Amino acid sequence: MDLRLQAAQRAIEEVKSGMTLGLGTGATAGYFIDLLGERLKSGELRQVRGVPTSEASAERARRWGIPLISLSEVNELDLAVDGADEVDAQLNLIKGLGRALLREKIVEIHARRFVVIVDESKLTPRLGGKGPLPIEIVPFEAQAHVRWLNSLGCRAELWLETDGSPARTDNSNYLARCWFEGGIPDPYILARRLADRPGIVEHGLFLDMAQQVIVAGQDGVRTLERGR
Ligand code: A5P
Repeated sequence: MDLRLQAAQRAIEEVKSGMTLGLGTGATAGYFIDLLGERLKSGELRQVRGVPTSEASAERARRWGIPLISLSEVNELDLAVDGADEVDAQLNLIKGLGRALLREKIVEIHARRFVVIVDESKLTPRLGGKGPLPIEIVPFEAQAHVRWLNSLGCRAELWLETDGSPARTDNSNYLARCWFEGGIPDPYILARRLADRPGIVEHGLFLDMAQQVIVAGQDGVRTLERGR
């Protein structure tokens, strides 16, 4: 069975009737939405409502008839479940290669509990050691933002579609991807610099956010808890 489905199966056990959920984006989070839809349809779960982190996840949830709400209707979500592109030993994450990092971060900071579901290929000793860090930028003077990103010790590029046009997010922004040779030396310093820069909308470093990471591997499914 697909390891990502196995991780989603463990996460769905945490969902109880009446909960409000953050619904992640990507293939792994998609499995979770499907499992939620099945349980609502069978009556095993009732009155669960979700806030989607992308148009794609909203569409997937709607196909199952999962009731969708906005953050304006609740102070807090009981639980958010999402995938990740990289997870380090402190349970810090890189997210956003599914292009949804801004909405993911907005929704997931509202969750009392944020659970990440991955297969073991996403584990890394150092963030940025496996792939690029995605960064959402405003379209205005996009190349100037990319040039500044290149000054941060990475190789940054505007994310382009196969036809050469800039990749757009659900928020109509552009994305850059930044490759750090050997990984990101200090994600906290980088996150601060990115947060302070006009034109940078949001970055894919999700630091100190995940309470639990469910990792599915060839030897089974295990859970990693923050601070343990
Ligand atoms: C979406 O923008 C991302 O943050 C995803 O959570 C991440 O890319 C993992 O996606 P997969 O589950 O498809 O690997």
